[in-house]
Amino acid sequence: MTTNENKFQAIISHAKEYGFVFQSSEIYDGLSAVYDYGPYGSELKKNIRDHWWKSMTQMHENIVGIDAAIFMHPLTWKASGHVDNFSDPMIDNRDSNKRYRVDHLIEGYAATLTESQSEEILGRMDRLLAAEDFSGLKLLIEEHKIKCGVSNTCNWTDVRQFNLMFSTQVGSIAEESDTIYLRPETAQGIFVNFLNVQKTARQKIPFGIAQTGKAFRNEIVARQFIFRMREFEQMEMQFFVRPGTQMEWYDYWKKARLEWHLSFGISRDKYRYHDHVKLAHYADAALDIEYEFPFGFKEVEGIHSRTDFDLKNHQLLSGKKQQYFDNELNQNYIPYVVETSIGLDRMFLLILSESYEEETLTKEDGSTDSRVVMHIPAKIAPVKLAILPLTKKDGLPDIAREIMDGCKSHFRCFYEEKDTIGKRYRRQDAVGTPFCITIDYQTKEDQTVTIRHRDSMLQERIHIDNIKSIVLDAIS
Ligand code: GAP
Repeated sequence: MTTNENKFQAIISHAKEYGFVFQSSEIYDGLSAVYDYGPYGSELKKNIRDHWWKSMTQMHENIVGIDAAIFMHPLTWKASGHVDNFSDPMIDNRDSNKRYRVDHLIEGYAATLTESQSEEILGRMDRLLAAEDFSGLKLLIEEHKIKCGVSNTCNWTDVRQFNLMFSTQVGSIAEESDTIYLRPETAQGIFVNFLNVQKTARQKIPFGIAQTGKAFRNEIVARQFIFRMREFEQMEMQFFVRPGTQMEWYDYWKKARLEWHLSFGISRDKYRYHDHVKLAHYADAALDIEYEFPFGFKEVEGIHSRTDFDLKNHQLLSGKKQQYFDNELNQNYIPYVVETSIGLDRMFLLILSESYEEETLTKEDGSTDSRVVMHIPAKIAPVKLAILPLTKKDGLPDIAREIMDGCKSHFRCFYEEKDTIGKRYRRQDAVGTPFCITIDYQTKEDQTVTIRHRDSMLQERIHIDNIKSIVLDAIS
């Protein structure tokens, strides 16, 4: 494996071959930027989601969860600003008819330049985007003679805004009022339930509401596998605070969320903060937590100080007060909000990228062998323990089944009799199973099994009674 691009392609192939991620509707040649999660992928995704949920809700007494509907009243998206502002500047190439997000087009070009040239052009782009200067952006593209990757020409249209929301109809299709949107973020389900939750969960400010769920965006440039999808999942938390304290909480969540990432054992060097120059329509401060994917540093999570923008506008359009009475201040106010928003699919891709390794092994006789191993952190690994009887006979499967029955209600186990032990170990390495145990003839005599550790490949004999606690210790 020489280049990062090769590594990324290898990860995509591996994800398919071992049942992590499939292209959606593959038998019909797929649907662009939509993916399905397979047997190991859906377990891993669920484990990441559960881990986030637990760290947000169970570990914070003042954060509670909800599960709001995907469909919401259309005025929600007017109030949130998505109808008017949720758009990206796009440009079309007249020869290929291919449409590009302007920032992606310029970023792609900048990646081919030296570091200082790249910084210069990206800095200029950021300033033009912040000023919404579309003719300036077009000029920048023309000055640098940036070409379309398909037609190889510079025959560009003007830069225009395109809304990213998917719309659909409820009821009669004739009436315009029946147009509703697939939510482009889960956050609004939290905002419109702010008072319901505050009252029923008897929360006092500062407190948070967490939610995970699907979001939909008509991304024009869909690429990089599950990094940018049209249907994806978010894990969001809105933290409601006293006006004026939002920057303290912004700093708090900026640090806390990075700590969460590092708790997977990932090196700090793989992360960086990126402060936004162009702020979203709702924010007074915003940053991305970026991770170094095989294709470079990219956003995995956003921390946004959303002011009182959302609640204030929902109050305006619904005519219902969205105020909180602060006993300590003896005062009513609309709370300010600090949001943490992470893409579950992006976190999944991060874990795949971080875990994937093609390892060359030197044997005792000096010859070499290789394996692909997924160093997925044990606590989120799809399968925690593989139970492998050495042979299919002589009562070994019976002992193995007994171990399986004792463990499977505590964590996800996998049972297999077929093939040599070596082949079975390799398959478990490829899906990231942290522990394998082998039941052999000695087991019948002294009740011990061989436990094999995925990362070190070390093997040791342990008593059957200790299997469960060893695995539970590693995943807790
Ligand atoms: N509520 C705020 C919000 O939605 P965002 O920065 O647009 O902010 C938050 O999205 C996170 O959602 C991103 O950091 C990213 O991880 C994920 N995300 C956004 N668009 C995505 C897409 N098209 N495909 C996959 N994940 C996406």
